[in-house]
Amino acid sequence: MDKFVIRGGNRLMGEIQVSGAKNAAVALIPAVLLCDEPCVIENVPDISDVSICLRILYELGAEVEMLKSDTYRISCKGVRSFSVPYESAKQMRASYYFLGALLGRTGRARVSMPGGCPLGDRPIDQHLKAFNALGANSCNDHGMIDLHADKLRGGQIYFDVVTVGATMNAMLAAVKTEGLTIIENAAKEPHIVDLANFLNSMGADIRGAGTDVIKVRGVSYLHGTTYSVIPDQIEAGTFMVAAAATGGDVLVKGVIPKHLEPITKKMRKIGVNIDEYDDAVRVWVEGPLVKASIKTQPHPGFPTDMQPQMATLLTLAEGTSIVTEGVWEQRFRYVDELRRMGADIAVNDKVAIITGTGKLMGAPVKACDLRAGAALIIAGLAAHGVTEIEDIHHIERGYGNIETKLRGIGGDICKVSTPPTAMKKAL
Ligand code: EPU
Repeated sequence: MDKFVIRGGNRLMGEIQVSGAKNAAVALIPAVLLCDEPCVIENVPDISDVSICLRILYELGAEVEMLKSDTYRISCKGVRSFSVPYESAKQMRASYYFLGALLGRTGRARVSMPGGCPLGDRPIDQHLKAFNALGANSCNDHGMIDLHADKLRGGQIYFDVVTVGATMNAMLAAVKTEGLTIIENAAKEPHIVDLANFLNSMGADIRGAGTDVIKVRGVSYLHGTTYSVIPDQIEAGTFMVAAAATGGDVLVKGVIPKHLEPITKKMRKIGVNIDEYDDAVRVWVEGPLVKASIKTQPHPGFPTDMQPQMATLLTLAEGTSIVTEGVWEQRFRYVDELRRMGADIAVNDKVAIITGTGKLMGAPVKACDLRAGAALIIAGLAAHGVTEIEDIHHIERGYGNIETKLRGIGGDICKVSTPPTAMKKAL
């Protein structure tokens, strides 16, 4: 098993490049199923969730060709199957996008219940509500979600909760469905807009993405396209927090500063200096960091996917901070690991009370999910001494080559393989 070994204490300095957004890429790749002409997708992040998405497409019968390290040409002309088996789907949450994409393509989809980070109950009732509103029948057949529609038609969808996945899935299923589909109480994240822009570049008619009402007028045909995935605002935010936690001075490049606003605003309140440029932000720290209150909420609120990283920063700030998780049932599982590093955090249900100690110490820890792992990397970079992080496969689901990127700005971090894996690789 691989682990990250971090020798903390270096101030991060220099320039770091952000990759394409995971949560956009994992929807855009299945979306290609809605088109029989080849599509080229650029700025695809080098992460394991993307590899799984591409493998599922290949298993369904698509041709997948890597043109450059971050660019793929995909042709779905040869796809005949509508079934994504357990072995593939269980590995990531985003496998649910194959439901909407396959249903929109053929009126049929069979996808195993999705996996993903353990963040508490992760129902998909709103996804099914959307498919049903378009005329599909759904059932759970021995762990496989089975969708079937003789003929899909446009419909009215009102989500009971704001949900990223169901909003994207409703767009995927509706885009080639005759008539008008109206999605109300839609999620507004940048990746929702990116999926709409991608589909529109193929000839779709989607309006209102980025607001809470999205209108999709079905078109009969989508053509091929070349499209570049938006930058990952969570990867950018993670680097911004890492710079601040180490008292560094870092230019985070290749971002859309507008997408970072909820993160930027909070970091400034904590005492971090942030200068915005057209496609970069400079993050630097002069004075002390101070306490803050944070509540995670759907966009444009503070993103839940930055909660563990910001909580880590607040362990280094003066005073007592309150962090409330407003999206997921359980997103404080990483707190035990931070406590091993000397953090003073009390958790009561969805609220964490963080008493800033100003310092952390290196320790052996485990990543329990993707963003928890990112938080531990930040903690390790800021801590005195050596931190070893196990279970880094969680981190590699969403951060491509993070150790190389962080080394480029002075982080003392390396990936170490324990003997059995190292031997297997050598053979
Ligand atoms: N929800 C329902 N029913 C549904 C769907 C969602 O009750 O049918 C609830 C969830 O339980 C949750 C809330 O609605 O309490 C929001 O869930 P959402 O559907 O928005 O989350 P998701 O689509 O499963 C995506 C990201 C997550 C990110 C959330 C919120 C992907 C693949 N995943 O998940 O990303 O936390 O949106 O922004 O896009 C991560 O990247 O670390 C990550 C977990």
